[in-house]
Amino acid sequence: MNNDQSPTPKFEVSILFGQNYNTEAHVIVNQGGTSSGKTFAIEQVLFCLACENPKQIITIVGQDIPNLKAGALRDAQKIYSESAVLKTRVKNFNKTDRVFEFYNGSLIEFKSYTDAQDAKSGKRDYLFINEANGISYAIYSELALRTRKRIYIDYNPNNTFWVHEQVLGRPNVQLIISDHRHNPFLDKGTRDKIEAIKNEDEELWKVYARGLTGKISGLVFTNWYVCEQIPGDAQLIATGLDFGFTNDETACLQVYRQNGELWVHELFYQTGLTNTDIARKLKTANVSKQTEIIADSAEPKSIEEFKRLGWYISGAKKGPDSIKNSIDILKRYHINVTRGSVNLRKELERYKWRVDRSGKTINQVVDSYNHLIDALRYVALNKLSASNNNKKIRSRLPFIPRPMGRSVYDELISPLTP
Ligand SMILES: Nc1ncnc2c1ncn2[C@@H]1O[C@H](COP(=O)(O)OP(=O)(O)O)[C@@H](O)[C@H]1O
Ligand SMILES: [Mg+2]
Repeated sequence: MNNDQSPTPKFEVSILFGQNYNTEAHVIVNQGGTSSGKTFAIEQVLFCLACENPKQIITIVGQDIPNLKAGALRDAQKIYSESAVLKTRVKNFNKTDRVFEFYNGSLIEFKSYTDAQDAKSGKRDYLFINEANGISYAIYSELALRTRKRIYIDYNPNNTFWVHEQVLGRPNVQLIISDHRHNPFLDKGTRDKIEAIKNEDEELWKVYARGLTGKISGLVFTNWYVCEQIPGDAQLIATGLDFGFTNDETACLQVYRQNGELWVHELFYQTGLTNTDIARKLKTANVSKQTEIIADSAEPKSIEEFKRLGWYISGAKKGPDSIKNSIDILKRYHINVTRGSVNLRKELERYKWRVDRSGKTINQVVDSYNHLIDALRYVALNKLSASNNNKKIRSRLPFIPRPMGRSVYDELISPLTP
């Protein structure tokens, strides 16, 4: 055992840590742009609270396990593994149940709930609702009822939802608005990419670069649905591959057909991959050299390199109208996206048509955060015909549009000054 008896682990923190730690409020709402450090700061606070008081029960909730694993859980593991002090406080991390157990009897658990009934189990001292716009109010209110001390909430405000309607403005609720400028740990490339959204679309920039409540109109795809897995009898159409490197992710997914519908599963999404790394990842994902890969034709040298390594790979047949055409093709299908395709789901949620100065939608898409979508479009261009016979989309669930509308809180509360 380490002799360090200081109750609080020493982290490098951003301004958001202090805001979330030194608070008297019962509910702390962290609305913010992308990468402002919300999740990281709240988790650092929760680790401190777990260490400082014995037998604290802390629940971190995400919309599903893949989202938690790619986000809040990964960040918590990073915070834990980089803190020598925390290592002396944490007895065990149970990977199966996703629970950090502390020597003092405290625990931090990561959970997702299927419905309000499910959320009635258990009580806790602290609750953290991560990316709250993916969680229903019914689930939130059951969890909130069973939380003794404090509730943290975080999200990117790409729409108004129950937090704006049911939580903000009530007594004992504090709102903190942040953006990437409050996060000193971010690299310049990421920062520039976030700011560059402004050249593409003002609405998206307000939400993702400034953390202001948005009303994202003109989404390209509304014909996609989350599914648990690719059905066993689905036929693989092809693997789609979009090359990136420093600032853009290399994106790869597989497209299947079953019952006239498309079934899509993300394989990887990562910056900094060389062609050798990509080949290794394809192998790890069990992509066969006998099945076709449709790749970004803007990189003929890479495509040739993969061919020489024995892959069955072709360039996407791009043309002057190929973006529009491939979108038209994809819109004719019921598209099922696996729950594990976390990045693809994020891209689909913000892929939108551009608007002109007067706010009218124009026939061009916003060209950012669309790498997996590009990979999907390449498969559509080469493998799906424009005259698909599945013109009638069979909708199993009614499509319920999200509530829209400008929030009064944007006018009342100004963001933190960086
Ligand atoms: N206190 C910190 N120490 C080290 N890195 C941090 C810290 N806060 C944020 N970061 C870095 O910034 C990234 C974005 O922060 P995150 O909390 O995920 O943002 P948000 O939840 O607002 O989108 C993290 O993945 C991490 O790399
Ligand atoms: Mg986050």
